[in-house]
Amino acid sequence: MTEKLHIIPQNHKITKEDRNKLNGHPSKVIWVIGLSGSGKSSIANVLEQKLFEQGHHTFLLDGDNVRAGLNSDLNFSLASRSENIRRAGEVAKLMMDAGTVCIAAFITPLKKDRDFVKSLIGEKDFVEVYVDCPVAVCESRDVKGLYAKARKGEISNFTGINSPFEAPENPDVRINSDQLSVTEGVNKVLEYLEGKLL
Ligand code: ADX
Repeated sequence: MTEKLHIIPQNHKITKEDRNKLNGHPSKVIWVIGLSGSGKSSIANVLEQKLFEQGHHTFLLDGDNVRAGLNSDLNFSLASRSENIRRAGEVAKLMMDAGTVCIAAFITPLKKDRDFVKSLIGEKDFVEVYVDCPVAVCESRDVKGLYAKARKGEISNFTGINSPFEAPENPDVRINSDQLSVTEGVNKVLEYLEGKLL
């Protein structure tokens, strides 16, 4: 875009800090990464439920749901995935400014997109959770039947089959979901958040 846009952001009278004080807890963005079928949506859901029951203001952003609405113009090319994550990151940032603990469950296959979101949110408020599950296990579960479709060539650019997944090397929390139950995985995140949020 070459046209200069004259945008002057406004300062709001009610700040994130005011909202955090009213809510009684800080805002956070908990970004849950992993292959399709790794269990990230299940973990994100139970995590939200636990935090909500403890009295936190929460919101859950899930790739499949966000792609059904806000991002319905995007496909699964790497450029579209980056745009998907950029928009999801911006929404998560708004959720954070609104005072919530925002849990975002997206495959987020590229390191550069994860780095972008982390710097957008700020390291202090960002928690990276990697739901680590071998692609062979995800494929054998194939809850949505998508791996079978990808193998038959009915879905192109399928993550882990013919589209890349750059595994996070130093996540804040790693959940080996082929070895742990959903509850055990969620407990690992809750332990990490102890003292930071709870
Ligand atoms: S991301 O790569 O852009 O982060 P996102 O988490 O939003 O992906 O969406 C992934 C979901 O879309 C999967 O859980 C799966 O149900 C569905 N899906 C459909 N096509 C693909 C594909 N080609 N690769 C991966 N997931 C796909």
